Amino acid sequence: MEKELNSHEHSHDHDHSHGHHHHDHNDFTDYKTAVKEYRESFASKKDVMEQAPDPAVREMVKYMDEQGVENCFDRFDKQKPHCTFGLAGVCCSICSLGPCKITERSPRGTCGANADLIVARNLVRAAAGGVAAHGARAREIILTLKKAAEGDVDLPIIGRNKVKAVADMFNLDIKTKSIEELAGEIADILLEDLSRTVPGPHKTLEAVAIPERKRVWEELDLIPVGSYHEVFEALHQTTVGTQGDWRKAMDQFMRLGIAFSMNSVVGGSIASDCLYGVPQRTTVKANLGTLKTDTVNIAIHGHAPQMAMEVIKAGRSEKFIEMAKEAGATGIQFYGICCSGLSTLYRLGGVIPLSNANGSELVLATGALDLWLADIQEVFPGIMEVANCYKTVVVTTNESNRLPGAEHIGYKRDLSDLDKLPQLADRIVTRAIESFKNRRDVKRHIPEHEIEAEVGFNLETLIHRYGSLSTIASALIDGRIKGIINLAGCTNTRIVFEKAIVDIVDILLKNNILVFTNGCASFPMAKLGYCSIKGQEKCGEKLLKFLGPKMPPVWHFGECIDNAHSVAVFREIAKYTGRHMKDLPFAEVTPEWSNEKGVGAALAFRMLGFSSYHCVHAPVHGSQKVKDFLYHGTKELIGSCMNVDTDPAKVAEMIIRDFDEARSNICWRS
Ligand code: SF4
Ligand code: FE2
Repeated sequence: MEKELNSHEHSHDHDHSHGHHHHDHNDFTDYKTAVKEYRESFASKKDVMEQAPDPAVREMVKYMDEQGVENCFDRFDKQKPHCTFGLAGVCCSICSLGPCKITERSPRGTCGANADLIVARNLVRAAAGGVAAHGARAREIILTLKKAAEGDVDLPIIGRNKVKAVADMFNLDIKTKSIEELAGEIADILLEDLSRTVPGPHKTLEAVAIPERKRVWEELDLIPVGSYHEVFEALHQTTVGTQGDWRKAMDQFMRLGIAFSMNSVVGGSIASDCLYGVPQRTTVKANLGTLKTDTVNIAIHGHAPQMAMEVIKAGRSEKFIEMAKEAGATGIQFYGICCSGLSTLYRLGGVIPLSNANGSELVLATGALDLWLADIQEVFPGIMEVANCYKTVVVTTNESNRLPGAEHIGYKRDLSDLDKLPQLADRIVTRAIESFKNRRDVKRHIPEHEIEAEVGFNLETLIHRYGSLSTIASALIDGRIKGIINLAGCTNTRIVFEKAIVDIVDILLKNNILVFTNGCASFPMAKLGYCSIKGQEKCGEKLLKFLGPKMPPVWHFGECIDNAHSVAVFREIAKYTGRHMKDLPFAEVTPEWSNEKGVGAALAFRMLGFSSYHCVHAPVHGSQKVKDFLYHGTKELIGSCMNVDTDPAKVAEMIIRDFDEARSNICWRS
């Protein structure tokens, strides 16, 4: 089937402008068969119960099934069969002359848009969603840094060395200015790159991007004005009757990929590191077996660290530990869901990683959580029903993410009360202790699995470990390391939960490929021992020789915006090889991507010259032209392309093949 999906034999170079509908007709029959077959490959809840690699997941899905409590796996099954127009990307509801769908009988929408344009426009909007998601979160953290720098909130600036390094990168006057002044100026630069209206240099891009990439982007006229502008322009171009050229729409798509990495991700990452300090290496137990029954249990879920950091600090204070003991608990324990859990873990330690977003309902169904702190992004509305079943108090903290039935203890939309964070945090911890008292009768079901995981890898901690990354570069050159992947992205109900991630990594490690990971895909790695010495069992001999006795084979960089940190490491390694990143055996692998930020992440890496590899198809089957452009055509423009196969083993083979080819192109032994 994949062969057919990827084949060129149906591609057309016909000019559609003269209304030869029979050409569209051919496209139509192609995609219909392809997406129907693709749909057949989708996993079911039964598959998850039987084949999910994490035994705790299998146990919880079965348990919820017995208890009759619904989760995302049930809802996905109920959506079957999935809409073929949506899967192929040929459904358009941009205006109310539609909604339009491309079929044999109707090869154009009411406005005259054909499949190529509709598919391209939908992709542009998805990428814009990704830029906006990471960008909105970046904005809040940059504003928090600015307020801390200007003394409007009582938060210490912990990443003092980071402030100096970034200030130096931006050519600020580090000799005479205080850390606070510099942090304020950094915040202003990042905000400017986020929201520039008057065209001017994109300052972060100028400072961060390597010259080879800048040249490529400039030649293609892809340099973004700023994140806001490119999202604005994306919505503009894709509105009815505006951009009529699918290929030009793809230029906007690529521009969004650069805005995504150079501002939404890097900007957010810089601000977090300046404010809270660079992530530290730390070891923690992971998975559901860690859930205690005698502590006040608080889950941290989402993507914004501001409230989570305060709540954890409060929960670890004498005052609240005493209060918890008075309520009959032995203490207060924090658990991490998704990215806020990870970012607080590597900064404060001891926040136990339990699950990514898709598994959040499974965690709630253990009945072990007293309070669930939900900030922004990947907080599925579906968690409320499960939380109600087990009397878990859900507290939302951000106006962008309210959930009916949840309690809201958050800061204002205009951030004018950010200085009240400590008081708000106190209220949340108090509520958790109260909830503990009220929930003694709730039934617990805690699978026994737990394991050790190490997190907090980044340029700084790796330099601390190796002295210089030339050590890694040498191992890459002499073949002890065949190549390095960045494993990230979400999980997706189309695939047996976390199975594609694990299957691909098993094959790659055996073939001496080193793995960096962050975000949702990093959870199965942490939960199944890949981020500890135990993971060495999976490695090929050469990779083992490089790792030595102490290093895990999968290096956990943290949350999803820590892509910024992994790119910094890739860049540093490339520097020591004397080669461009695009020519090296490097890849972005997001096997189970599902959301708009996932579109953005893979796209951003492709813009940096890394090919991307997936087990989930983008909605492109409706347009042979857009599909060919993404799967092949971008290679000569930006040095990378998108590779998809629903079979994880085949994806692993593609990566190995491409790494071998990259190595032989630069005369390195395989
Ligand atoms: Fe239909 Fe065109 Fe409106 Fe889309 S923009 S809904 S294709 S008329
Ligand atoms: Fe994330």
